[in-house]
Amino acid sequence: MKKIIVAIDGYSSSGKSTMARELAKRIGYVYVDSGAMYRAVTLYAIEHGMTADGKVDREALVAALPEIRISFTPAGSDGVQHTHLNGRDVETEIRDMQVSSLVSPVAEIPEVRERLVKMQQEFGESKGIVMDGRDIGTTVFPDAEMKVFVDASAEERARRRLKEMQEKGMDVTYEEVLDNIRQRDHIDTTRAVSPLRKAADAHVLDNDKMTHQQQMEWLLNLYNTIVNE
Ligand code: DC
Repeated sequence: MKKIIVAIDGYSSSGKSTMARELAKRIGYVYVDSGAMYRAVTLYAIEHGMTADGKVDREALVAALPEIRISFTPAGSDGVQHTHLNGRDVETEIRDMQVSSLVSPVAEIPEVRERLVKMQQEFGESKGIVMDGRDIGTTVFPDAEMKVFVDASAEERARRRLKEMQEKGMDVTYEEVLDNIRQRDHIDTTRAVSPLRKAADAHVLDNDKMTHQQQMEWLLNLYNTIVNE
């Protein structure tokens, strides 16, 4: 069967990572969470004192880019692939509120995007990959055979994210999470380089209206149609 590239884009906390990961597992593809890469760069900036008062020292971070190595370990017994920053497992740290609130300004920096996009394109060289993010179907893989744009309301996404964070024992309120999601939506859709937008040839998946199982069926149907064309 022919191998393709599956690009899944959408707003933050739209459930796209869960879907992308599960789809990859079902079809035997490699899964790459591109958001985790922007998060790892953000963690590096925080740990190296390059952030203060919600701002990022762009110059210092750009100068440090050659020092930043990001890799993924294959999914372990927990079924989750872990992100490594310079050889250290940072899967938990990159999901915390501090990283979440600084990742959008980091992802706006053109040099950061250029470097991460190049790495993402290398991951896709032999196809057989599912990658999720904001600009995968538009910038990273404009020729991807299957493109999906996941749509979901900010309120529904905040409810989902809050539940996830509370399950991990994090101390946050619904208002804080909703506020963070709205801010990120604003930055993600209005930034100058590769803003989040639906590619003209992307299929829209309405995440508010479908159950998880319906979404998986929808994705598998689309995938089967495309690979059998
Ligand atoms: O999907 P996520 O919430 O983990 O992504 C974290 C941030 O990274 C998000 O605020 C936008 C940015 N991002 C991006 O700009 N481009 C991507 N391809 C993926 C994520």
